Amino acid sequence: MDPNQLSRRQFLRQTFAYSAIAALAPGALLSAGAQSAPPPDPNAAHMFMLGDWGTDRYVPQQLNVSQSMQQWATSNRIQPGAMFMLGDNWYGKMHDQHGVQRWNDQFENMYPASKFPGPAYAVLGNHDYEKAKVDKVQMQLDYPKQHKTRWTMPDRWYTFNYPEKDPVAKFICLDSNLPGTKPFDPWPWSYLMSHEDADAQDTWFKAELAKPRTLPFLIVIAHHPLYTNGVHRDNPVLIPRWGPLLKQAKVDFYITGHDHDLQHLEFEGQPTSFVISGGGGAELVDWSVDPKKRGPFGGRVLGFSHLELTKDAATLRHITLNAQELHAFRRTPDGKMTVLKAG
Ligand SMILES: [Fe+2]
Repeated sequence: MDPNQLSRRQFLRQTFAYSAIAALAPGALLSAGAQSAPPPDPNAAHMFMLGDWGTDRYVPQQLNVSQSMQQWATSNRIQPGAMFMLGDNWYGKMHDQHGVQRWNDQFENMYPASKFPGPAYAVLGNHDYEKAKVDKVQMQLDYPKQHKTRWTMPDRWYTFNYPEKDPVAKFICLDSNLPGTKPFDPWPWSYLMSHEDADAQDTWFKAELAKPRTLPFLIVIAHHPLYTNGVHRDNPVLIPRWGPLLKQAKVDFYITGHDHDLQHLEFEGQPTSFVISGGGGAELVDWSVDPKKRGPFGGRVLGFSHLELTKDAATLRHITLNAQELHAFRRTPDGKMTVLKAG
């Protein structure tokens, strides 16, 4: 089947499905009022997530997002125990002293350890798959071996439980640079993972999903979305390859970057909440689908996402500049999703 046809057909079905959910069961999606979410619980576990942040052209914007992260944490009296860097970690060149400087300026000092002392987990985006004088994939794998750092990317795909003590969520972190997922704006030096590696990752991914579930929440992280209202459009490689796996395992969240905005998408018959958090600093991009038609939320803004976890609930908030909360929703371990702030 022509992947574009598949994508279009699925898009139409999903657009209709979301409209149908919103029309038939608003109570299932929107809590009463739905304009203000309860404040974060300082006693919960917290993680701040952001994608598309390591820009070589928009560092002041990256700094604005970092300042918003710090402001949000301070004003809510929380200290995130971890960050998650959702890919497109490093745009442009990272060679020699220039690369050292960028690691310091745009990671170590940009997100100061005094505010974010925990690990900074990371996955790889398409801009990380560029051999710009250095192989930026290998560079990111090697960095923690050579420096005292919070940067945490033990492999291109890996798993961890969070929080470390008394965990409530299992994270499966994937490399979504699969063959066929061409970069939107290809550079002459960009490349993709091999078919052999993609198959090996899928074998590992399926084995992780098949393990008995021992924690309340299961979260899959990658860089490329399956579904997006953004300029990159729904992904005809990832939808058939990973969509059925997410559904069968009842994965709670699939969280990515790639489109430079903040999104939350839900689909009838698909138990997973799809989150895009690509507002870490790079230039904003246009919509390909009006977010009013497929949601519940889309914000063409810079910002980050705040994931709050207890054994009873996982709450995700999209936060833009100046610590302004735009959208929030909560999932419970039984799979129920409630929008707390419609946005
Ligand atoms: Fe990307």
